[in-house]
Amino acid sequence: MRVLAIESSFDDSTVALVRKEGDVFFVEKYLTSSQVEDHAKFGGVVPEVAARLHVSVLPKLIDKVCGYERDGIDGVAVTAGPGLGTALRVGVESAKALAVAWDVPLIPVDHMEGHIYSTMLADAEQTPTIDTKRMFPALCLIVSGGHTELVLMKEHGNYQLVGQTRDDAAGEAFDKTARLLGLPFPGGPSISKAAKTGNAEAIAFPRPMQHSGDLDMSFSGLKTAVRVEVAARDGALSDKDVADVAASFEAAVVDVLVHKVGKAIEQYRPNSILLCGGVSANTPLRNALKEAFDAEICVHLPARGYTTDNAAMIGAVGVRMLEEGMRLPDPFIVDADPARELGGRWKWEL
Ligand code: KG4
Ligand code: ZN
Repeated sequence: MRVLAIESSFDDSTVALVRKEGDVFFVEKYLTSSQVEDHAKFGGVVPEVAARLHVSVLPKLIDKVCGYERDGIDGVAVTAGPGLGTALRVGVESAKALAVAWDVPLIPVDHMEGHIYSTMLADAEQTPTIDTKRMFPALCLIVSGGHTELVLMKEHGNYQLVGQTRDDAAGEAFDKTARLLGLPFPGGPSISKAAKTGNAEAIAFPRPMQHSGDLDMSFSGLKTAVRVEVAARDGALSDKDVADVAASFEAAVVDVLVHKVGKAIEQYRPNSILLCGGVSANTPLRNALKEAFDAEICVHLPARGYTTDNAAMIGAVGVRMLEEGMRLPDPFIVDADPARELGGRWKWEL
């Protein structure tokens, strides 16, 4: 089975063709167009600007991926939530039009579920080592700009939230800290770059909620601690200060995440660990999880090209749902669901 997939939940317009062969989710084509430069001057993503750019870019990407020909496409998968309402709607309405014109099922996909499937994607360059039959229960650490969650995946499509941030998401903490340090948006990659020349032990930042006894996390205190460090230098940071703060901050985030994964392993005894979401691009986090747990439990990481938002991961969920027999009675009931929660009901299912 093969689906065309569209993702426009935030600041990436992306389209993919994904097929399922046995247990393998194979990405046949994948195109992405980032809006990062368009939003950089605002220091963050502006929803209206994001939506307008999706409107101009998505039709071109769809044309390049399938030429508007239905040939061999069994369904159209689209991110329906969570995300920015205006941005999501561009993808949802485009997918709806294609599904109706081609007379194939429309498959609304949860963006966070998509991130989980980013660890399972195969393409012409790579075949993941993941065994999708023996991976369950899988412990998923989802770390993105809007979410930081520990989710127990009992089987395909079955999710239990076991821990989450009580305030800022990890990616958000990277973005806000970068802004405090005068580093460019998006903060994750800039902090990582600056951290390479810094000393991770220069500043003893707190490890919030490490001993809370549950699997919840908190990152807003860490951001405040960075603000205090910056203020202590009257806002005048040398390059070495920036590198040291970045490295010490990154180490604190990684420590907290690794610690909570360890606690979750003790509690739930998973067969695998899946790291996903934009922050999964972070090399120290990838290395720390592998180092801490991979000897006992397989740690699966998304390939570098699939860490941030992409339509390939949405196609993988969509093709699985289609194979399971998912059919909507009417594609017109689907609407963007910006506040969607993983595993819950869609707003149109109420
Ligand atoms: O999943 P994603 O692409 O979009 C959302 O759904 O939020 O995640 C974006 C987030 C941003 O906060 C960005 O700063 C962070 O992922 N990020 C990173 C890195 N690359 C992206 N954080 C830490 N280290 C990185 N290398
Ligand atoms: Zn995302």
